[in-house]
Amino acid sequence: MNVLKTCEDLRKYVEAHSVAGNTIGFVPTMGALHNGHLSLLTRSVKENDVSIVSVFVNPIQFNNKEDLRMYPRTLDKDITLLESAGCNAVFVPEVAEMYPEGEIVAEKYDFGSLETVMEAKFRPGHFNGVAVVVKRLFDIAKPTRAYFGLKDFQQLAIIKSLVNQYDIPVEIVSCEIVREEDGLAMSSRNVRLKADERKQAARISHTLFDAVQYVNKKSVDEVRKFVINAINSVPLLSVEYFDLVDAATLQSIDKWDDAESVVGCIAVNVGEVRLIDAVLFL
Ligand code: PAF
Repeated sequence: MNVLKTCEDLRKYVEAHSVAGNTIGFVPTMGALHNGHLSLLTRSVKENDVSIVSVFVNPIQFNNKEDLRMYPRTLDKDITLLESAGCNAVFVPEVAEMYPEGEIVAEKYDFGSLETVMEAKFRPGHFNGVAVVVKRLFDIAKPTRAYFGLKDFQQLAIIKSLVNQYDIPVEIVSCEIVREEDGLAMSSRNVRLKADERKQAARISHTLFDAVQYVNKKSVDEVRKFVINAINSVPLLSVEYFDLVDAATLQSIDKWDDAESVVGCIAVNVGEVRLIDAVLFL
């Protein structure tokens, strides 16, 4: 596996494969890899001639300095995992490589109503930071396909919008959430949970799965309240937001027939760790 450190290294690597007519699968990550990431890579390996993974903890998408400082960094382990999962190249730039101008960047993206709700409300500037790095990565890696997990449901919508707005010739592939045995959605942040927090965190997905049973039996508002109250009643869990939204627009629904497809998106603080999850309701 090639370890590429500079944008120029990546550019040259991609150029050689484009000339050879190879398709390129790309999995952008912030490292601390788990089986969720590896499932994206496995799919990329199946569907493309060459698979590239980026490992870059993107400082400009963190609106909380402590969260950035505490974000797990396990590069040596990540490289070993990627190699054994069939990755062809890993791109591991330094911050100055991605942001030669410094961390105050000029790009300002507009995602309309997609960036007025949920994560965007609670993490101002987060999606602009995601869009900046993803656009810069796409511009260099020129992937045929790029793979993202459905856990970050709003991020996926933002990236699809970015690709549409800028006519980026890449297929965005959405991949199912990979869960731990007890149902907790895999996340790089899970390693920061203390033992009791880890145990209680499983109640997030359990509650969401229970709530799915109430579709068309209880009102949307009753289901919202059920989820929030059930999770808040677990001692170490505190819901930041939970919403039932139209999967296409991410806007809140009032009635079950307001949208063809409905997703429940949640952010929960578990001690000092913030976790998100997303479950299809309809
Ligand atoms: O989902 C993530 O890990 C990050 O937001 C991404 C897409 C790699 C951009 O930094």
